Amino acid sequence: MMFRNALSALAFATLTVSASPVKTKKDSPTSVLPAPESTETASPVYDWSAGWKPKFPIHESCNSTQRAQLEEALDEAVQLAQHARDHLLRFGHESDFVTKYFGKNGSTATPIGWFDRIIGAQKTGMTFRCDDPDRNCETQDGWAGHWRGENATSETVICDLSFTARRPLSSVCMGGYKVASWKLNTYWATDLVHRLLHVPNISEGKVEHFSEGYAGALALAKEEPELSGFDSDVLQYFAIDVWAYDIAAPGVGCTGEPEEEEAEDKPTNTTTDVPSATSGAPDECHTHDDGVVHCS
Ligand SMILES: *[C@@H]1O[C@H](CO)[C@@H](O)[C@H](O)[C@H]1NC(C)=O
Ligand SMILES: *[C@@H]1O[C@H](CO)[C@@H](O)[C@H](O)[C@H]1NC(C)=O
Ligand SMILES: *[C@@H]1O[C@H](CO)[C@@H](O)[C@H](O)[C@H]1NC(C)=O
Ligand SMILES: *[C@@H]1O[C@H](CO)[C@@H](O)[C@H](O)[C@H]1NC(C)=O
Ligand SMILES: *[C@@H]1O[C@H](CO)[C@@H](O)[C@H](O)[C@H]1NC(C)=O
Ligand SMILES: [Zn+2]
Repeated sequence: MMFRNALSALAFATLTVSASPVKTKKDSPTSVLPAPESTETASPVYDWSAGWKPKFPIHESCNSTQRAQLEEALDEAVQLAQHARDHLLRFGHESDFVTKYFGKNGSTATPIGWFDRIIGAQKTGMTFRCDDPDRNCETQDGWAGHWRGENATSETVICDLSFTARRPLSSVCMGGYKVASWKLNTYWATDLVHRLLHVPNISEGKVEHFSEGYAGALALAKEEPELSGFDSDVLQYFAIDVWAYDIAAPGVGCTGEPEEEEAEDKPTNTTTDVPSATSGAPDECHTHDDGVVHCS
C-alpha cells in the first residue's frame, strides 16, 4: 500500500518534471528540483500561483525564426542556472569550485538566490526584442545585443549577430574551449545570464560588475568574498565551470589556465602598467545605466 503510494507519487513527480516549461536534461540531477510551472488553473477560492509567469517574454518584433532560437537559448540559460544552483545545493563548500569563486566562507545562499531568480522569478514586464530600437546593432560594430539601460530598464535588445555567433551548451569544452581563457559570451547561455543580471526584474539592482575576467573573479573571492555572490562575472564563470565539469566533460571539465596577461598578478620589473583588462579585441559591448560602455 505504502509502496504503491510511493510509486504513484514518483510517477506524478516524473510527470510534473516533464510538463515543466523548462527543459531539464533527462538524466541530469536537476530533475530533483524542477523549475516552477506557470499555472493557469484558477481556484474558486484563492490560488497563490495564478498568473505566475516564470518564462521569459519575447517581444513581437522577433520573427518566427528569431523567436524559436531565442526561446531555445533562454531555455539553455535557465538550464545553466539550474545546474549552478544544484551544484551549490549539493556540495556547498565541499566543492572546490564553490570556494574558488565564492571564497572560503562566502555564503552560498546569495548565488543560489540569483540563479533561482533566473529560473523562477516573475517575468512579466520584461522583454527581449529584435527591432534594434536604440540603433546600436546597426551603428555599433560587433554588438550582439545590449541592455537598454535608462531607455527601458526591463528591456534587452538582441542583435542579428547573436543568432549566428553564439554557441549552444552542447558544445561546451569542444574546439579548444577553456573556461579560464575564452570569453564568457562564447556560449549563448552565459551571454544571456549576463544580460539577465543587468535587468532589475532579475537582479533587483544588486548584481554588479565588481570584477572583470577570470583572474578578476578569482581575486575577488580571495579579497572581497562578500561581493562575489553579487558579481556578474563570478556568477557566469561559476556556472559555466561547473557545467563543464559536471555535465559537458564529467569529472574532467575544461577550466584551463588564464591568459598570460591576466595570470600575471605579480608585478614585474619591466613595467609598472597594470595589464589592461580589455586587451583583447572587444566583440560584445553593452551600456551600463551610468552610460559607461562595457565591452567583454
Ligand atoms: C527573421 O529575421 C532575420 C533577420 O532579419 C532574417 O534573417 C530571417 O530570414 C527572418 N525570418 C523570417 C521567417 O522571416
Ligand atoms: C571566515 O572564516 C575564517 C576562518 O574560519 C574566520 O576567521 C572568519 O571570521 C570568517 N569570516 C566570516 C565573515 O564569517
Ligand atoms: C519589471 O520591471 C518593469 C520596469 O520597472 C516593471 O514595470 C515590471 O512590473 C517589473 N516586473 C516584475 C515582475 O517585477
Ligand atoms: C538610449 O536612447 C538614446 C536616444 O535614442 C541613445 O542615444 C542611447 O544610446 C540609448 N541608450 C542605450 C543604452 O542604448
Ligand atoms: C626586480 O627588481 C628588483 C629590485 O630592483 C631586483 O632585485 C630583481 O632582480 C628584479 N627582478 C627581475 C626579474 O628583474
Ligand atoms: Zn555587464
